Amino acid sequence: MIVKDAQFVISNTDYRKCPQDDKPEYAFIGRSNVGKSSLINMLTNRKGLAMTSSKPGKTQLINHFIINDEWYLVDLPGYGYAQRGKEGREKIRVIIEDYILERAQLTCLFLLLDCRHEPQKIDLEFIEWLGESEIPFAIVFTKIDKISKGKLSDNMALYTSKLHETWDELPQIFYTSSEHKLGGQDILNYIESINKNIKE
Ligand code: GTP
Ligand code: MG
Repeated sequence: MIVKDAQFVISNTDYRKCPQDDKPEYAFIGRSNVGKSSLINMLTNRKGLAMTSSKPGKTQLINHFIINDEWYLVDLPGYGYAQRGKEGREKIRVIIEDYILERAQLTCLFLLLDCRHEPQKIDLEFIEWLGESEIPFAIVFTKIDKISKGKLSDNMALYTSKLHETWDELPQIFYTSSEHKLGGQDILNYIESINKNIKE
């Protein structure tokens, strides 16, 4: 898949105000600072299309980007940012959950996990909730430039064994570095294959 064109369309707090056509969309979720916005910039090869920050809590809205005039990438706010306070976290939780549960065009959700960390409760609970809610999702391990290959495979082994406790079959897994521009093409090809299936 080649991204010929990528444009910002609209930001919302409410899924009901998101674009009303029926183009397939692919959204990115995960803890604040895991690298969702950076990944969107890497996939589209456009620096600054999605706003990034070294401070967590940057993305606070549902952001739609139209790709090749055919499908959407959606940048979501991160979950679990403690500094936001209870009320702030609750507001973001409602925005995210309503979008994920109610948005009919959501074709696949990419759940991002920082490859440097061992399995975290908040992420495992989120994965359980996706399963219970029957949301189609894939996993993306981000920031692979930050650890050695050995540490990466140790963490991946921990994650897969943890996930196998509740899942017979694991979802599709991707490995990326937005810093070193790694793994983007695999995700784009995956999206392309789903788009093709939808059309057939
Ligand atoms: P929120 O919008 O706050 O939820 O965060 P986010 O998940 O969108 O993260 P964002 O893309 O803004 O990135 C957070 C920080 O991590 C930034 O300083 C990025 O430069 C850095 N970052 C993101 N991806 C990578 C990566 O693959 N490698 C490295 N080394 N840094 C990364
Ligand atoms: Mg962001």
